[in-house]
Amino acid sequence: MDYQAVLEEVAAYARPFVRQGQVADYIPALERVSADRFGIAVADIHGAVYGVGDWEVPFSVQSISKTFSLALVMAQSPGNQGDGDIWKRVGREPSGTPFNSLVQLEAENGIPRNPFINAGALVVTDRLQTLTGDASTSMLHFLREESGNPDLAFDQAVADSEAEHGDRNAALAHFMASFGNLENPVPSVIEHYFWQCSIEMSCRDLAVAGGFLARHGLRADGSRLLEAREAKRINAVMLTCGTYDAAGEFAYRVGLPAKSGVGGGIIAVIPGRCTLCVWSPGLDARGNSVAGAAALDHFTTLTGWSVF
Ligand code: DON
Repeated sequence: MDYQAVLEEVAAYARPFVRQGQVADYIPALERVSADRFGIAVADIHGAVYGVGDWEVPFSVQSISKTFSLALVMAQSPGNQGDGDIWKRVGREPSGTPFNSLVQLEAENGIPRNPFINAGALVVTDRLQTLTGDASTSMLHFLREESGNPDLAFDQAVADSEAEHGDRNAALAHFMASFGNLENPVPSVIEHYFWQCSIEMSCRDLAVAGGFLARHGLRADGSRLLEAREAKRINAVMLTCGTYDAAGEFAYRVGLPAKSGVGGGIIAVIPGRCTLCVWSPGLDARGNSVAGAAALDHFTTLTGWSVF
């Protein structure tokens, strides 16, 4: 497969979709990003990386971090029994509600539907905090190592303004704490969650860092991060829940495990072949990048590489 040629074609296809949708405006630091940006990168399982457009420009990973916090919790759980612990506290069903919704928690005893809506991600970050003593720093170090980019950093302005506008996430955390579903104090859980969302990475960094998901749990150097069944499970939950209440539509159009963030990034995995990351800040009403989804749709159309 000539990845570079495919990416050029995908970028040309996606170009008219760039600027469509709305750049996230709930905090000033995200609103300032130019809507004209578009980048896409592919990292194959052997370590080759290809990219087009703004593929080396860092952006706010936001909810894409939820994939990596789940992977870290699974990897760090004693004896790699990540399956057992965390799945008692968070489900793995699509929510069909917006990513920051509160409504299901009351009827479902404070157990979030899945680890990729905000409530579920807060539970995962809480677990990571217990396991590491410093969830967000562990995540930053992990991402530096997996991406091979030692310069990755938090964006302090983003983290601060997330906290300033953090009432809803605080409400989710307090509500779950009232059901006994948090191990750490609410202020510390939401702080680490905001920091992890604020990490800046490029399409290149994210495609490379997500390589273990395409390699059935193996890192680039061949060492094992996750059991193959754990990588399979993360991919399965990405497919069913990674793009929120648009997961059905996304599976229909793209047919790949994927995780989006309101920074406009989406990572997608083709198990056994490669990991992709696309970035364009204009979002649809569900919080997914419009041009990003179009690009991934065209990538699987051109290559025939959806998982179906
Ligand atoms: O919790 C929030 O509001 C953000 N820091 C992350 C949200 C996000 O990326 C959801 N994604 N589409």
